[in-house]
Amino acid sequence: MSILQAIKGPAAPVVDGTDGDCGPQDIRLGLTSSTFGPEERTAMIEVIDTGMLTMGRHVREFEERFAGYIGGKYALMVNSGSSANLVAVASLFFRKEKPLKRGDTVIVPCVSWATTFYPLHQYGLKLKFVDIDLETLNYDIESLKKAVTPDVKMIVAVSILGNPCRFDEITGICKENDIILFEDNCESMGAKFNGRYTGTFGLIGTFSTFYSHHISTIEGGLILTDDYEIYCLCKSLRNHGWTRDQGPESPIYRTKEDDFFEAYRFILPGYNVRATELQGAVGKEQLKKLDGFLKIRRQNAEYFKELFKDDRRFIIQKEVGESSWFSFTMIVRPESGLNRKQVLRVLKNAGIEHRIITGSNMLRHDVVEYFDYENTGSGNADTAHDYGFFVGNHPVDIRDKIDYLYESLKSVQGATV
Ligand SMILES: Cc1ncc(COP(=O)(O)O)c(C=O)c1O
Repeated sequence: MSILQAIKGPAAPVVDGTDGDCGPQDIRLGLTSSTFGPEERTAMIEVIDTGMLTMGRHVREFEERFAGYIGGKYALMVNSGSSANLVAVASLFFRKEKPLKRGDTVIVPCVSWATTFYPLHQYGLKLKFVDIDLETLNYDIESLKKAVTPDVKMIVAVSILGNPCRFDEITGICKENDIILFEDNCESMGAKFNGRYTGTFGLIGTFSTFYSHHISTIEGGLILTDDYEIYCLCKSLRNHGWTRDQGPESPIYRTKEDDFFEAYRFILPGYNVRATELQGAVGKEQLKKLDGFLKIRRQNAEYFKELFKDDRRFIIQKEVGESSWFSFTMIVRPESGLNRKQVLRVLKNAGIEHRIITGSNMLRHDVVEYFDYENTGSGNADTAHDYGFFVGNHPVDIRDKIDYLYESLKSVQGATV
């Protein structure tokens, strides 16, 4: 079998399923779908044919194009969104001015993905959990304001499932209190708030290009910043903590005379979380398609919103700014009399994949026993945890499948339908 055939494999289904919960029958609406076409295949074959597979030109070009697209000065590609968070958090400990220190307090939302929190814990920060707004699923702004105390050095803002945070409020809070804003934008590539892309509001923004996200490099992630020192620190940290690729203008070290040692000089306790040229080349192709993907995701979302807007049984995600609509969240209204288990059974029998909202309430996961943390209130996060779920959105027209979702859910009885 040729390499091309091996990569090509069977034609990707329009809407396939991966990690969702569904019955044994055919999946009618999955959580994820492949967005790879002939362009990505050709790009990968071309890279393989050059024999230059490790991080190089394609990764660099993808980074430059990504920074240009989103509107940031410097982008760095790594092997996942989780690694982007890890490297970005680490960099803040090595800045010359006002570095983070072990024991500093960082505000985090109760609902996010596990690897939003892990690097913060791993670097010895104290996590101060703040509740979410049940409609937007992002920070409840009043709770966030109350949580800001003099010991808070950073706020991690996570725009959940494509929906931008209230960055007008959050940037104001950060400015007023001299707090670093860190954006974990791994779920919201392409979203905008006040006409500006999410991921550009903080000192650092992180992105994921995992298979099921807005663009895919199979696995992958990016760090975006306008701060040259942070960029140089991240560049070293992603790559063994060495000086290679720093360039003569780098503010994080001074070149020494001896070229022999200079080629392998280690300055930071870093990682190897590099991306490959295959991922860089595929990233460039996917980026060309992002506008089109977003347009279709939003078209699907308009249809979903219209269908469910009067259905009082569910809280559907309220859009802030321009969401990039990762998925469609639904929270069974506790007062509706519906039972989520019953709803999920209907979905399962209908072949509609579904799952928890991001990581749901992180405070309800066993792993928090390892964290140094404080809970400032998590009532809404608990509701999302106990009553919520999401179904997939896709960069292809799924309006007929949204109809099918609607019809399937019609049969579920509730007190206030
Ligand atoms: C908010 C958030 N942060 C970080 C990540 C990690 O990204 P990755 O899966 O690329 O490691 C995810 C993954 O979905 C996420 O949703």
